[in-house]
Amino acid sequence: MLMHARMANGKNSYMKKIDYNNFELWMDSSTSFNNKLLIEECNVLWNLLLKRRNPHQPGQPGVQIKSAAGYFPNGEVQKVVRLLTKEAEGIYSLYSGNTNIRSIVGSWIYISSNENKYTGWHTHESLGINTHAGELIDTLDADLTAVYYAQVPEIEDEGFIQFASTTKPSEKDRVLQIKPKAGDYFVFDKSLPHRPTLNEKSKNIRYVIAATMKFLDCDLYSNSVTYSKTLV
Ligand SMILES: [Fe+2]
Repeated sequence: MLMHARMANGKNSYMKKIDYNNFELWMDSSTSFNNKLLIEECNVLWNLLLKRRNPHQPGQPGVQIKSAAGYFPNGEVQKVVRLLTKEAEGIYSLYSGNTNIRSIVGSWIYISSNENKYTGWHTHESLGINTHAGELIDTLDADLTAVYYAQVPEIEDEGFIQFASTTKPSEKDRVLQIKPKAGDYFVFDKSLPHRPTLNEKSKNIRYVIAATMKFLDCDLYSNSVTYSKTLV
């Protein structure tokens, strides 16, 4: 199963492939935006808007909110989404051999405080297409998905991400468990099951920027733009 990881915890930028049997990871340390500002944006959203609404509901895995620009005026969240998209495009090109691609991206922020009591195995298989009023009218099959860790739990035995080969892993199934640090991000196949562990003791809220991408052939995209122009 395809998985790439870019880790921000090293001093020098490096690229390394690690083979975890079915898992392939590449690691690098470079990031190009301000994580402190990004956390500030998330804190504003959480403290001013979401927290008082008691958003952690039973059976719901944390809070997930679309990364609309209005919520994040510093623009750091959008920079992260662009970074994740660029990385995913590079990985997709590498594996498909197609370098002429454009992306359609669905992105959101995942928030989990110590009040969140629920997590579950899942995949990011599709992008929702919504009307202006938010009504879901269609879905697109995704190609790749990515997650960026802006803030992680400070307690040692909390804040893991787990990957598995099935959404209902049994004892015999292999589960890969990783503890991301702030600034790390992963790009992985849309159908790779994963789940965060809970952070019931940590004071740090877990802030994750996530994106799911669909890639289009550039020529197809260009043709469609040209076709639209002929209609004007
Ligand atoms: Fe997820």
